[in-house]
Amino acid sequence: MTTIGFIGSGRIGGALAQLAAAAGHDIVLSNSRGPQSLRETAARLGTRARTATTTEAAAAGDLVVVTIPVRAYRQVPVAALHGRVVIDTLNYDPARQGAVPEIEAGDTPPHLLLQSHLRDAYVVKAFSNVFFRHLPQLARTAGAPDRSAVPIAGDSATAKAAVATLIDSLGFDAYDVGPLAESRRFAPGTPAQLAYLDPDGMVAAPGRPASAADLAALLEKAERS
Ligand SMILES: NC(=O)c1ccc[n+]([C@@H]2O[C@H](COP(=O)([O-])OP(=O)(O)OC[C@H]3O[C@@H](n4cnc5c(N)ncnc54)[C@H](OP(=O)(O)O)[C@@H]3O)[C@@H](O)[C@H]2O)c1
Repeated sequence: MTTIGFIGSGRIGGALAQLAAAAGHDIVLSNSRGPQSLRETAARLGTRARTATTTEAAAAGDLVVVTIPVRAYRQVPVAALHGRVVIDTLNYDPARQGAVPEIEAGDTPPHLLLQSHLRDAYVVKAFSNVFFRHLPQLARTAGAPDRSAVPIAGDSATAKAAVATLIDSLGFDAYDVGPLAESRRFAPGTPAQLAYLDPDGMVAAPGRPASAADLAALLEKAERS
């Protein structure tokens, strides 16, 4: 089994950690407030989960999920993630999570921000278009007819293969959209962000399964770079 480090253990981080613990992976949770603040969360996940500092979680994970508000991206430890596979769930939402000057200035597009900070890590964008409550609702065993596909994008084929294997173990098929720059095709405001919502776009409704073909049709609607 794989050890998954989490930098950020909130709604998306917590939901992914729950699926990962259920799949038998080891979990290392972290946030900005320190290991003590996550003890109860880890206890709920079972004996495979523990808490750590962000640097420890980065160093411990075979794969590391970064799932924090975008405005905090500079606090993600760089050295500990050198050469590592990093899953980036981040969506830029300045109204709710705070603005980032370098994005507002047009220096770095939001979907490339974490990779620009972690130059020596292999960043794979994944799960950024899934509402956290829909993750447990949509997870299915391999081969289930209504199993959902989730888009991934990254510049390293090896890293994407590792992430796809993890995603499969969590109950989803990975759908490779291409290089990291192509993750803009499932960024906020694109049709693919609505992939698992009911036809009225209500996030409160149960998640609606989306196959690879469903996803491909939505991704195709976003202009190719
Ligand atoms: N919610 C969704 O359904 C959803 C779906 C797709 C993508 N996303 C994206 O995923 C990211 C996380 O979203 P979320 O909804 O899970 O947010 P959230 O519930 O607010 O959780 C954020 C987590 O990050 C931690 N954190 C904040 N600053 C940190 C730092 N400097 N270092 C380490 N940890 C830090 C927070 O804990 P402390 O504050 O205690 O440090 C918390 O554990 C966002 O970029 C969001 O746009 C969210």
